[in-house]
Amino acid sequence: MFSLKDKVALVTGGASGIGAAIAEIFCKAGAIVIILDRNTDQASEVSQLLQQHGGRCENLPLDVTNESHCADITEQITSRFGKIDILVNNAGVGHVGTIIETEGSDLDRLYAVNVRGLFNLTKAVLPGMLTRRSGNIINLASIGGIVGIRDRLAYCTTKFAVVGFTKCLALDHARMGIRANCICPGRVETPFVSARLAEYADPIKAREEMSSTQALGRMGDPREIAAAALYLASDESAFVTGTSFTIDGGWSAGK
Ligand SMILES: NC(=O)c1ccc[n+]([C@@H]2O[C@H](COP(=O)([O-])OP(=O)(O)OC[C@H]3O[C@@H](n4cnc5c(N)ncnc54)[C@H](O)[C@@H]3O)[C@@H](O)[C@H]2O)c1
Repeated sequence: MFSLKDKVALVTGGASGIGAAIAEIFCKAGAIVIILDRNTDQASEVSQLLQQHGGRCENLPLDVTNESHCADITEQITSRFGKIDILVNNAGVGHVGTIIETEGSDLDRLYAVNVRGLFNLTKAVLPGMLTRRSGNIINLASIGGIVGIRDRLAYCTTKFAVVGFTKCLALDHARMGIRANCICPGRVETPFVSARLAEYADPIKAREEMSSTQALGRMGDPREIAAAALYLASDESAFVTGTSFTIDGGWSAGK
């Protein structure tokens, strides 16, 4: 069940949190995983650990905001492995604030990674997938791409864009062997959330509030998100495209 045997999968932001959990579950399912992350040291640590457990995992340095580097790395990987089957656009950054507390430069920074970065790598990888008439693209959006979140103006703006991007991509190439879906997690225990908590005057209180936003009263585990990525990457989800898969502990079910 959910085999990715010999599939070549790229995972951006795979050095940490949700991306690292996706790299791990993909390796366990038999994929060849290439972690693409700007944090080279941490990416090497993760890939070495996965190798020690029998996984076929490598890492290459990439800043997804660098368009020409995205093209070069795609060419490099394709000439080495002959194909790219799965692209997980997971790298993302956040910012806490209303519009009053958000500068244009904050929005530009988030947009560069969360939207333009995902665009850059998808644009580089898709032509090879179209030639083979086979490709699977999974984007990490957020529950903040489905509903608004207080004090997350810039973040939600970019994540709504990720959902729109995914749906358009899915429609444009549905009959060409390409599937594109996004995952919309609620709050998940990762360094991403720890960094946001540190921005609050009272991080402990903020943590309790963040947990209570979910109906289940807790944050998610990165492995709970990775399991969905595995399903979407596998042939078992062959009829699923253009969806935004919400995994939010009941956040969006209502108050
Ligand atoms: N943790 C959550 O609660 C949560 C909730 C909803 C959505 N998400 C989304 O899931 C994704 C992963 O989140 P996470 O919590 O695992 O984050 P994280 O901060 O733990 O990891 C993000 C990784 O992305 C890498 N990265 C950042 N900018 C990059 C760039 N320009 N080029 C290449 N790599 C870059 C970082 O080095 C890091 O390894 C993000 O897109 C995030 O917005 C997270």
